[in-house]
Amino acid sequence: MSMDQLKRQAAARAVEYVADGMRLGLGTGSTAKHFVELLGERVRGGLKVIGVPTSEATRADAERCGVPLTTLEKIDHLDLTVDGADEIDVRLNVIKGGGGALLREKIVATASSRMVVIADDSKWVETLGRFPLPIEVVPFGLAATRSAIEGCFKQAGVAGEITIRKGVDGHAFVTDGGHWIVDAHLGRIPDAPRLAALLNGVPGVMEHGLFIGLAATAILAGSQGIRVVDRS
Ligand code: A5P
Repeated sequence: MSMDQLKRQAAARAVEYVADGMRLGLGTGSTAKHFVELLGERVRGGLKVIGVPTSEATRADAERCGVPLTTLEKIDHLDLTVDGADEIDVRLNVIKGGGGALLREKIVATASSRMVVIADDSKWVETLGRFPLPIEVVPFGLAATRSAIEGCFKQAGVAGEITIRKGVDGHAFVTDGGHWIVDAHLGRIPDAPRLAALLNGVPGVMEHGLFIGLAATAILAGSQGIRVVDRS
């Protein structure tokens, strides 16, 4: 089975968590896109839900699939967010932001009663960090922010190269919020909650891709079948 088929299977299982009348957070990325498409099928079959997209790309997908949308300017709470992940550890702490949507993704997940993460099982890891940690930064003062980020790494006992993410045009990748992303190649993050707390204190950091204590459930699709892991 291809990676894409596994992603679709995980998304299909997540659709089972959706009930009539729910307000939903709609994640970003290739796995979340499957969820939006499958949700659209249910909506066409009569399911009543309303969604908040975590990116302009997901907004376009949801509109194409006929999923009614609202915003977190109009409503302040969501019942369920379903989103993909770049890495998921055994405590269901997650790295996100490979697609650059981490700020909106974290706002939406935090506003939700429940976050379900969907992925193929290659994303499951013992310790986070093999996937470069995305950190969304304000371009103003970047050298100072970078130095403060390195200070956080030192305090958290991690080290690695920091690179500015580039877009397809070769210039700095710009997020939906107008910020830049730096990717931190740390290899291993032994204490992700501590690093997350330290990064939260850097003024030029808009948000980082460590989602700590947000995911309640992970749905992992692999060649052996689907595994559902609930946070204990
Ligand atoms: C988007 O910013 C990311 O957080 C994605 O959710 C994450 O990168 C997973 O994407 P895929 O489902 O495409 O692997």
